Amino acid sequence: MTIQWYPGHMAKAKREVSEQLKKVDVVFELVDARIPYSSRNPMIDDFIQHKPRVVILNKMDMSNLKEMEKWNTFFEDKGAFPVAVDAKHGKNLQKVEQAAIEATKEKFAREKEKGLRPRAIRAMIVGIPNVGKSTLINKMAKRAIAKTGNTPGVTKQQQWIKVGNALQLLDTPGILWPKFEDQTIGKKLSITGAIKDSIVHLDDVAIYGLNFLIEHDKETLLNHFNIEVDEDAGVLEWFDAIGRRRGMLQNGNEVDYEAVIDAIIYDIRNGKVGNYCFDIYKEMVEAP
Ligand code: G4P
Repeated sequence: MTIQWYPGHMAKAKREVSEQLKKVDVVFELVDARIPYSSRNPMIDDFIQHKPRVVILNKMDMSNLKEMEKWNTFFEDKGAFPVAVDAKHGKNLQKVEQAAIEATKEKFAREKEKGLRPRAIRAMIVGIPNVGKSTLINKMAKRAIAKTGNTPGVTKQQQWIKVGNALQLLDTPGILWPKFEDQTIGKKLSITGAIKDSIVHLDDVAIYGLNFLIEHDKETLLNHFNIEVDEDAGVLEWFDAIGRRRGMLQNGNEVDYEAVIDAIIYDIRNGKVGNYCFDIYKEMVEAP
């Protein structure tokens, strides 16, 4: 599927999501725990403004816990309530309800003071495509709810789903566009599978992934592909070593670079090499 988001689409998506946000007490902003910063919509603060917010770092099973901790603190410092979950395997989901209770405590205390009757907390999920919105809704609802597709905005027909004792969740998420203007962020979105039919070139994505691992986890990378390369080897030598080891050859004995590029991206994207957080907090926030 080609994702085409023009300014008109974005304005419409913003209008629709903003309209839905008025119905809820708390927003669940879903991000990919492998890129907690890069998988955010660039206008998200503008959308949500001062409404209580739980930032859900999903796919924690594929990320690096130490780096995730730093992003946790980053979101806390911004006044949000972060929780890390693995929606696919249903891990930590009860923490989402707890965080929603925390995030809305003051609002409900005010309502109580005014004499209003206690009621369930209303929440909706927003996030860019492929961060796991449908998976999370289905797990929290404990039943399969139709996939909404990746059209920005909000699907019209909506229902509230009861989750636990305290929470009601809108069954259709708000879909927002990613920060695809930035080249590096584009590569991170691609290497994690947020954008599959890429607006960045796949060779660039593979080189980005390879360089990230050479810098942060070289031994694991060498072991994964079962190769040896010189200390100062360039990208092409890595491609050659991987291609030859995997038998990705064409025209006799030439390395099939397209196959190598696909293999590198596939293995990193699917966590075959290891679990990584590509947004390095120190580089992005402390010294951006
Ligand atoms: P969306 O609604 O935000 O667009 O995302 P969706 O739920 O469709 O999830 C996108 C992909 O991410 C799915 O994989 C889904 O299984 C996977 N996913 C969601 N949450 C998690 C998680 O916490 N951990 C891991 N490891 N994966 C997660 P897919 O390859 O598109 O489908 P499938 O292989 O599950 O069939």
